Amino acid sequence: RRVLCAGMGGSGITGDMLARLLSVEVVPHRGYTIPSTVDAETLLLGISYSGGTEETLSAFRQGLERTERAMAVTSGGALAQLCRERGVPMIEIPKGLQPRAALGYLLFSLLPWFGRLGLCPHDLASVPGLMEEMVRRYTPYSRGNAAQSLAKALHRRVPLVYGAHGAMATAALRWKTQINENAKQPAFWAELPELCHNEIVGYELSEVLLPSACVVFLRSPQDHPRIQARVDILKEVLKRRGLSYVEAWAHGGTEIEELLSMVCLGDWVSVYMALMNRVDPTPVRPIEELKKRLGSWNNT
Ligand code: F6R
Repeated sequence: RRVLCAGMGGSGITGDMLARLLSVEVVPHRGYTIPSTVDAETLLLGISYSGGTEETLSAFRQGLERTERAMAVTSGGALAQLCRERGVPMIEIPKGLQPRAALGYLLFSLLPWFGRLGLCPHDLASVPGLMEEMVRRYTPYSRGNAAQSLAKALHRRVPLVYGAHGAMATAALRWKTQINENAKQPAFWAELPELCHNEIVGYELSEVLLPSACVVFLRSPQDHPRIQARVDILKEVLKRRGLSYVEAWAHGGTEIEELLSMVCLGDWVSVYMALMNRVDPTPVRPIEELKKRLGSWNNT
């Protein structure tokens, strides 16, 4: 009846994407303890690229007490070990990548599997071709491309990435986290229409407190007409307050194509931003240091 996806960071976003793409209730879960709704009718999905993330392991262990329907996706570590010990089915994906760069493995090992259960109503056949086309567009060999232009517009800015509730909001979360981890700088995200009920009030002092903010609207031609109206009004408000904005449009005609094309664009933008920030996009030392320190942390 429902899928609970326990996963953090670059692995956890897989749960948000599955929630957009599957025809069953999917609950992305980021925390140590699981909600009380997890029962024998819940499929517990543990997603951790490294297999060593303590929140995911804790939630997964707790979930195994409540349901026998469980599986994991990982490249190894303690999660793989736990699955072997408890006889839990597991999809093992190749080692050696940064978790956030393994999204293709994490998502596409699961989508066809759910497809066979009749729970993925999307035609996946067109997706690889679209991804190749996106990569051709945004590669450094394609000079002055949209990803480079957006990175230039966002250079030395704090991006506030906005998308409409649904696929574009999920893409906005991925943009934010990729800009954090690749470009090593602050970025925030919010979703429409919710942000019209709180975030916009904060613009009043933005000029003083966050003058370098730049709103990034992630747009889809499928956006609800009232969302389109809200974006047009927001642009006027931002202009009036002297705040800047840029826009990016999704490609493709289906929800899965739009989501993945927007994720692909954001990934490239974050890497170009890293190069402009003169930082190495790959390592994430603060995350590693925190995990290491927690490993030797005594709670008692
Ligand atoms: C690093 C990254 C992080 C990790 C997160 C959880 O590239 O994206 O956000 O994904 O620290 O680790 P894993 O994915 O190994 O469970």
